[in-house]
Amino acid sequence: MRMRKKRHGNERLLALSSLLYPNASETWENPIEVFGNDNPLKLEVGCGKGDFITALSERDTEFNYVALERVSDVAVCAVEKYAKHRGLGALGANGGWQTPDGRLFKNGDAWDMPLELRGNVRFIVGEANDVVTRMPDNSLAGIIANFSDPWSRKCTYEKRRLTHPAYLENYKRVLTTDGLFSFKTDDETLFDYTVEMLPSCGFEIAFLTRDLHASERAANNIITEYERNFMEKGINIKMLEAKPVK
Ligand SMILES: C[S@@+](CC[C@H](N)C(=O)[O-])C[C@H]1O[C@@H](n2cnc3c(N)ncnc32)[C@H](O)[C@@H]1O
Repeated sequence: MRMRKKRHGNERLLALSSLLYPNASETWENPIEVFGNDNPLKLEVGCGKGDFITALSERDTEFNYVALERVSDVAVCAVEKYAKHRGLGALGANGGWQTPDGRLFKNGDAWDMPLELRGNVRFIVGEANDVVTRMPDNSLAGIIANFSDPWSRKCTYEKRRLTHPAYLENYKRVLTTDGLFSFKTDDETLFDYTVEMLPSCGFEIAFLTRDLHASERAANNIITEYERNFMEKGINIKMLEAKPVK
């Protein structure tokens, strides 16, 4: 489904640019420095409109998170959702970001938010491997990929899958020894492909279910935007977790 272009999308992202990961297109020396604490870092690739990262970051507060989305009009929804959920304001009736104390950031103005308001998530508009390539070895406690595009129809697109070896090898490098790769999908072909690729890219599958909502993980599961749609259609959700073998 193609999204209609967001009005003032870039301006809206700029207003909340304090919630974007700074200098993400450079080499990351110390990835957690920007959070002002020592909590381990997890990455969500393809975060979509941000339901999952907003809920996860509120539930598992002992981690920092980077949420990565390559389409900026989708990323702006995620950033605004997170900000609104944290009580940082809302879109103003006539555009701009309106803070709870009545300030309005629009026309390219950026809110320089105090660190304590920013919480434990920073967003990046970018391509997954471009960003992961810049991260140091052994720097992530987890990588999460939920309902990534299956690219099933034409096998020439296989390399775009977020579980293609070109991605998995990079994930392995940046995950710590105890780190986990977590993956959910509705798509049988993509799931089978991922199950096949993981061991050949140096991962060991630690958990696997082909019916997440009937499994012991259901109670702890955070439902994503796409997951809700697939559930309504009665499609079983597949999920796995894999550890890098180091
Ligand atoms: C099918 S949506 C799923 C969104 C969300 N994770 C969910 O479960 O509702 C996949 C998202 O991943 C993003 N995406 C796909 N390939 C990507 C890549 N290589 N790097 C960053 N984001 C990507 C897409 O733009 C899209 O927003």
